[in-house]
Amino acid sequence: MKSGPIGVFDSGYGGLTILKEIVATMPGYDYVYLGDNARAPYGTKSYDTVYEYTLEAVKWFLNQGCSLVILACNTASAKALRTIQQKDLPIIDNSKRVLGVIRPTSEVIGHYSNTGHVGILGTTGTVHSDSYLIEIAKFFPQIKVTQEACPEWVSLVEENKHQTSEADFFVKKHIDHILTKDESIDTLLLACTHYPLLLEKIKKYTPGSTRIISQGKIIADSLMNYLKRHPEIEIACSKNAEKKFYTTGKTEEFNSRATTFFGAEVRSEKLVL
Ligand code: DGL
Repeated sequence: MKSGPIGVFDSGYGGLTILKEIVATMPGYDYVYLGDNARAPYGTKSYDTVYEYTLEAVKWFLNQGCSLVILACNTASAKALRTIQQKDLPIIDNSKRVLGVIRPTSEVIGHYSNTGHVGILGTTGTVHSDSYLIEIAKFFPQIKVTQEACPEWVSLVEENKHQTSEADFFVKKHIDHILTKDESIDTLLLACTHYPLLLEKIKKYTPGSTRIISQGKIIADSLMNYLKRHPEIEIACSKNAEKKFYTTGKTEEFNSRATTFFGAEVRSEKLVL
C-alpha cells in the first residue's frame, strides 16, 4: 500500500489546537489539515448536515492518499463519526481509518478531578448528542458530569472576535452558568477544539483552583499509542515531516490567523468541497 499523510479535519481553526500538539509529539510524520471555514460553525447544524459535510471531507482526505483521518472536531465526532466508521468506510475502503476526539478524551478525563465533578463545555451539537455523558460513564461511572453549551464561542473565534469585550461577555456567561449548576466542579473540559483559542478569557473567569483541560495533548498521546498498536496503519503513514493546509474559506485570512494559532508559518490552498 502506498503511504500518505495523516489527515486532520475541523470545521475551521479549532483543529489546529490538536494538530499543533500532534506535530509536537510526532514531528516526523506528514500531515494534511483541512478547515471547512466557509461552512463553520458546525455546532449549530443538524445531524444530517454535519454528517454530509464531514463525509465529503473524509472522501477528500482519502483521495489525497490518507490512510488515517482524525476528526479534530467534537461536533463531527459526535454526529458523524460512528456512521462513517460503520457504514461508509466498509464500502469506500476497509483498510482506511477515521478516528474522533471524544472517546480518547473520555478515557482519561476522570483522572484530572479530585472532587469527581467534571464540567463539559461544548457546542450545542456536542452537548445535545450526550456523547460525553455516555462515553465518560463507560470509563468513570462514579464521575458526575455537567454540560454547558456555549453556542457563541466558535463564532467568536471564526469571526476574529476572540479578544473583544463581546468574548468576555459570552465566556463569563457560560463559565458562571456551569459553575452555578454544580459548585463542586473542579475540572472543566474544553470539549470543542476551538475553545483553547479563548483560553485567556476562560482562565480570567474561572477560579484558580479549577483545572481547565484542553484536548490537544490527550489526542496526541492517544494517536501515538494507536499507531503503536496498529502497525498496518503506521506503515501507511508517510514520514517526511511535511505539512499541508487547505481551507474552504479565504486563504489569506486563514494563513494569517492559522499562523498565530498554529505557532508556525501556515500557507494554505483553497479547496471547494
Ligand atoms: N472545533 C469544533 C468542535 O470541536 C467546532 C464546531 C463548530 O464548528 O461549531 O466541536
